[in-house]
Amino acid sequence: MLWIRLGARGQTLRVYRLHWAAGKTIGRLPAWLRPAALLYRNLRTLASYFLGAWTAGRPILAGREIRKALLLGLDYVYLADVPGDIAEFGTDTGTTAAIIAARMKEYDAMAARAPRHDRRFSERRLLLWDSFRGLPAAALPADLGSPHVASGVWGEGACRGLTEAELGQVCAKFLPRDRIAIQAGWYKDTLPRLAAGTRLALLHVDCDLYESAKEILEHGFSRGWIQNGAILLFDDWNTNRAEPGFGERRAWDEAVRRFSIHYSDMGSYGWGGRKFIVHRYSSPA
Ligand SMILES: C[S@@+](CC[C@H](N)C(=O)[O-])C[C@H]1O[C@@H](n2cnc3c(N)ncnc32)[C@H](O)[C@@H]1O
Repeated sequence: MLWIRLGARGQTLRVYRLHWAAGKTIGRLPAWLRPAALLYRNLRTLASYFLGAWTAGRPILAGREIRKALLLGLDYVYLADVPGDIAEFGTDTGTTAAIIAARMKEYDAMAARAPRHDRRFSERRLLLWDSFRGLPAAALPADLGSPHVASGVWGEGACRGLTEAELGQVCAKFLPRDRIAIQAGWYKDTLPRLAAGTRLALLHVDCDLYESAKEILEHGFSRGWIQNGAILLFDDWNTNRAEPGFGERRAWDEAVRRFSIHYSDMGSYGWGGRKFIVHRYSSPA
């Protein structure tokens, strides 16, 4: 076994394991074919590394429906003049953050051409929230019992992608750096630190776990950040076999009851997503 260290675009060092032992599958092949099979397997490992580094933060590579839903969500927020900033919870590869940032750049350009009285295209900030350490360990029964956690797909540290600095660089291709606010750390620590008076017009909730989504909704609604008219896009609505007792479905259902949220169900997107527009709610704070 050989360990190699590579830098993603010269920034992050990662370790990849190359295997030279045959193992079960390759061991079943005729002896003369094994070296070629081993070589192929190792080249595939390297290719996946380089592909991963190349795809990071490239808007074009998100699922078409997800990309479309995000763009329509942003169009809605700008054209319907919903007040507030744009937030993404769960940045991983930076792909969806880049989609959002690229569209915001287009609206910046429209602002320059719009008549002075038309304030719909006013500048907004992009708030990006991630641990930059992947998913937290599941702790609550609603997560521990969910199929994705039980199978290990959503294990601790899964979905660890770009570093904070890399994400900043990706988004700075589109927006001035002072309009990108990266909140690095666990939501339970970063959410309480956000300034009072924060206003959110669009929330892309892409953090997989029930507990993570619950923390976002609890802070967003109890502190009045989520504006009337805001749109929420849940990327993982149908994961966990669409079982309502798990994940984002459960977190939203509980928030609706706790904050008496009046909303419009704006329907599904892709195989897994669902979006809602909030009309009004009662915030205990
Ligand atoms: C599915 S990935 C997001 C995919 C991303 N939108 C993209 O385009 O690649 C889920 C992300 O949520 C983050 N996450 C989940 N729960 C979190 C928590 N409680 N605190 C901080 N980050 C969390 C993980 O670190 C991970 O990057």
